[in-house]
Amino acid sequence: MEKVLVVNFGGQYAHLIARRIREVGVYAEIASPEEAVIKASKEEVKAVILSGGPSSVYELGAPDIDEGIFALSKPVLGICYGHQMIAKKLGGKVERGKGEYGKTIVKILVNDPLFDGWKPEEAVWMSHSDFVEEPPPGFHVLAISENGYIAAMRKGLIYGVQFHPEVHHTSKGRVMFENFLRKIARISDVWRPEDQITRIVEEIRSRVKGGDVIVGVSGGVDSTVTAVLLYKAVGQRVKAVFIDHGLFREGEPEEAASLLKSIGIDVVYIDAKERFLKRLEGVADCEEKRRIIGETFAEVFSDAVKQMPNVKYLAQGTLYPDVVESGAVKGADKIKSHHNVGGLPPWFQLELIEPLREFYKDEVRRIAKALGLPEDVVYRHPFPGPGLAVRIIGPFTREKLAIVRKAIKIVEEELRKAGLFRKVWQAFATVGEDKWVGVKGDRRAMGYIVTVRIVESEDAMTADWSRIPFEILEKISSRITSEIPEVTMVTYAVTSKPPSTIEPC
Ligand code: XMP
Repeated sequence: MEKVLVVNFGGQYAHLIARRIREVGVYAEIASPEEAVIKASKEEVKAVILSGGPSSVYELGAPDIDEGIFALSKPVLGICYGHQMIAKKLGGKVERGKGEYGKTIVKILVNDPLFDGWKPEEAVWMSHSDFVEEPPPGFHVLAISENGYIAAMRKGLIYGVQFHPEVHHTSKGRVMFENFLRKIARISDVWRPEDQITRIVEEIRSRVKGGDVIVGVSGGVDSTVTAVLLYKAVGQRVKAVFIDHGLFREGEPEEAASLLKSIGIDVVYIDAKERFLKRLEGVADCEEKRRIIGETFAEVFSDAVKQMPNVKYLAQGTLYPDVVESGAVKGADKIKSHHNVGGLPPWFQLELIEPLREFYKDEVRRIAKALGLPEDVVYRHPFPGPGLAVRIIGPFTREKLAIVRKAIKIVEEELRKAGLFRKVWQAFATVGEDKWVGVKGDRRAMGYIVTVRIVESEDAMTADWSRIPFEILEKISSRITSEIPEVTMVTYAVTSKPPSTIEPC
């Protein structure tokens, strides 16, 4: 399969670029700058994209790339930092300036296949303070921004663009990627995630020789798809285990088990609620909560494995961003430690199988759909591995757990009633330590503040708060205060990510 290598210069740009390329139907893989030349030399790599990044090219320790990348005679497209890197490496000049942020008009100066389908002036998304002051020898300026900065340049098959074609605000960004991939790099293969199912199933079958495969399921789309792919590959040798840590939403464990059962997969349900909740009681620090949950999960899981002597393999629903962020590919920032099943320690001595490790979430949903899973699973909101524990701010208590569980149920029900549930990325409620005086009957009483968080996002790397109609927020608020007597105030979170994260801790 022909592919594109996206060189990761830090931040989250590389993922966004890789996703856009895959949306156009071309397989994209992320590489660190250090491994870029070796990987790009491979026959199947037909083009290289140099991503944006948070650094400045002349800064000490800024990510760098070997000039060899330009000697491979393969098409290269540098974006923002990548564009400046081309200038730096090939003899141009990069300067620090006032910069451009947000929507900016660029003027196309030269008819180039990269801009086929673009009007002479188009709005693009800019985010830079450094700029290319002088293109390297032999480069032509293809486009200029309304502020006079070089917006695009080219020499032979090497292109640089100052703007971000990968963000939605650059409305012709997708057209530009299609031009680069299909017309300039002449990639003809069409890659679609759902076409990979047969290959994945065959790969699992050829790896799982003797012995059973254990998989931890949680009802989420990733672990469900993993279990189904395994089942297709090795049938009854799949042992699905559902560990109930007591931090799920209402009804979740039952629904997960009954769905898998309907497909033919038996689920071993392990009630470990007390084991988790006892250890969490009073713990305030979020990373500590994550650590405890990860550790306890590993213990419970390990006990389960001991009961199944035939198990030789462990399957996990690890996704591509986790593979990149876990250090398999360098250069990605880590904000929270994500303890999922993915956090299982190596002492299991089981061979690891990760059928989804090359996919993004939206691609897993496409696979789920192609596998015929119910819409409810295909479009299920992401739910953190540590569950409701990360939706409790401050000391963990069972009272807060009950509050947050009930409040989340109300948020979800009201959004479903309004037909908005599937339109948003995540919707939930959180509770903390702060109290608000309420009037209950004729008495004043201190009660909890519940914060409702509803966000829209494409991939959880950035997110915007959802502009939910006031009437729905009002309904949610009045139901929460009337159905959960401990709550006296409901607030709505109106901060996007960044600067906030989606979950409160
Ligand atoms: P944040 O809160 O970092 O969340 O903006 C981004 C996405 O990750 C989910 N999330 C987690 N998932 N374990 C997980 O498996 C965790 O500890 C965790 N914390 C956040 C979050 O729900 C969102 O989809």
